[in-house]
Amino acid sequence: MANPTNHAIPVFSRWLGSWQIAISRRAFDPADLQRAYDAAAPRWADKLRRLGVPAAYRGALQALLAHDRPHPGKGHRLNVLDCGVGTGALSLALADVIDHDMTLAAVDVSPRMLAEARHALQEKGVELAPHLADVRDLPFPDDAFDLVMCAHALEHLADPQEAIAEMLRVLRPSGVVLARVTRRSLLGGYVQLKWRTHQLTAERAVGWLSARGIGNIRCRPVRGRIPGGAWSIAVAGRKPEPDPAGIADFTQLPHAA
Ligand SMILES: C[S@@+](CC[C@H](N)C(=O)[O-])C[C@H]1O[C@@H](n2cnc3c(N)ncnc32)[C@H](O)[C@@H]1O
Repeated sequence: MANPTNHAIPVFSRWLGSWQIAISRRAFDPADLQRAYDAAAPRWADKLRRLGVPAAYRGALQALLAHDRPHPGKGHRLNVLDCGVGTGALSLALADVIDHDMTLAAVDVSPRMLAEARHALQEKGVELAPHLADVRDLPFPDDAFDLVMCAHALEHLADPQEAIAEMLRVLRPSGVVLARVTRRSLLGGYVQLKWRTHQLTAERAVGWLSARGIGNIRCRPVRGRIPGGAWSIAVAGRKPEPDPAGIADFTQLPHAA
């Protein structure tokens, strides 16, 4: 088996004097994750509705995009990519709040999630181009999208920076990247136990993007109809324009601690 420390998700860490006590857990491997999400797909959208997630997504998107909206780079349609689309909750929310026509592509490792997303978006009149692919290896050319989003998939990855680098590769310069991740909370603890995910503070969520040179980062806590306060964090920012002198390549920066 490959070195398990390369697949570790930190769960607990405390310093006691010169001692560090730390617990990590091996992330699910991709095949297990696919099976688990395929099994969850038929009931996923109902579960999100009961928890008030669609409204929470709309609210967070409105707040994050209010003062810094993504614009089409070419033509008049906004080119959007949703990574780890699930049943399409974030794309559906975007369709409600955005004032541009959009072209929407999505990736997911679960074929059943992709099928649910395509159906739900079709019912709303939004055509989805679904791709069975891993967010760490996106099947798109560089600079292809105006907005790249990812809700609650990055925290499944032992090294989320691999995925963030890929998301930025396919995002055009000055395009908007938007991520939602599980916040350290009561629900975050439950999600971590069940799905072996990261749970983050707002500072760490911002750090995941700023480590890649993302600018103008905004951050919002997200609440649904769930006791225990905000269980999710939304962060958004812009990919920098390339350095005309060709000196800085932000996608090559070392990973955030
Ligand atoms: C918690 S669900 C979130 C779904 C949706 N974005 C939402 O907010 O409702 C996580 C989704 O990410 C997908 N996923 C997990 N790891 C992935 C990876 N490495 N590449 C692409 N999709 C992934 C899962 O199959 C699942 O559909």
